[in-house]
Amino acid sequence: MADAPLNKAKLAVFISGTGTNMAALLFASRLKDAAFEIVLVASNVEDADGLNLAAIEGVPTFAHSHKGHSREDQDAAMEQAVLDAGADYIVLAGYMRILSQGFVERWEARMLNIHPSLLPKYKGLDTFARAIDAGDSHAGSSVHLVTHELDAGEVLAQVRVAIASDDTPATLAQRVKIAEHQLYPRAVADYVSRGNDPEFLFSKLRELALALPETHERSSHGSPGFRVGTEKSGKFFAHFSQQHYGSQHIAVLVKTSGMDELLNLVETQPEVYYKPDYYGASGWVGLILNRPNVDWDHIADWLGRSWRSSAPARLTKLLDAADIF
Ligand code: GAR
Repeated sequence: MADAPLNKAKLAVFISGTGTNMAALLFASRLKDAAFEIVLVASNVEDADGLNLAAIEGVPTFAHSHKGHSREDQDAAMEQAVLDAGADYIVLAGYMRILSQGFVERWEARMLNIHPSLLPKYKGLDTFARAIDAGDSHAGSSVHLVTHELDAGEVLAQVRVAIASDDTPATLAQRVKIAEHQLYPRAVADYVSRGNDPEFLFSKLRELALALPETHERSSHGSPGFRVGTEKSGKFFAHFSQQHYGSQHIAVLVKTSGMDELLNLVETQPEVYYKPDYYGASGWVGLILNRPNVDWDHIADWLGRSWRSSAPARLTKLLDAADIF
């Protein structure tokens, strides 16, 4: 089999039981062009079935029983194993422990869970019995980001499973699990790849750009951009650039103070900045969005600065006055 591409996301998967969702992720990771690889399977149950499956497949495993340990100590042991394995993300797959707040905070936006209901319905346990008792037409499963409120983080993807009139919680659980095995690998792949997805990057950018005062979207030379001022006389302060003129970058172009600053940025931080064709000549710098660990606060700062240098005086005057206080 061909070697893994260098930029695969590294996952640590936490399980407590059979680990069939972990197995679905593991075999998905072995398919051609998979977006992720599994670098660790860890459990709080020393004889969890899934650990054996992972070991047979040559995936490193780690087990640390929670019995006799505080929540913090248990989480610290699990986290150390994740760090030692070099994982970028933690994927919970039937991990039946509540995690401590510090742990959840450190892995914010980098920890996913699968929950067997159509969230926000039926957080917690006994989801199948609750869906049947309520007379729902469908049950299902949700993949969500983990936050410190149980099963309440942003839902990334869901799959619906029809409930039959003679379903019991056990028969329904079986079919939901089959659906989960399709859902989880896809949802994880989409999530870890979104830093290279122009649609996702543009939607983040649009949110930040349109949050600035008196802005609107307008395309220019076939690319979307953002202007400040009125629809009629506004000025561009940002252009979105998606692999233009053979460039590999997905970027936002923003206004620098001039060529000196632009060249200095490009020279000192070439992984972040580049001089775009055409716009570069008039002082616009390319701020690369499809790179690891983009800091969106930094992008927002640049948008704000570029906005300020393009906005009409009646708008910047107000801000200047506010800055004095
Ligand atoms: C899965 O159905 C998952 O949705 C559920 O545990 C099962 C684990 O099965 N998770 C939860 O209930 C989390 N609150 P698996 O070990 O065969 O993957």
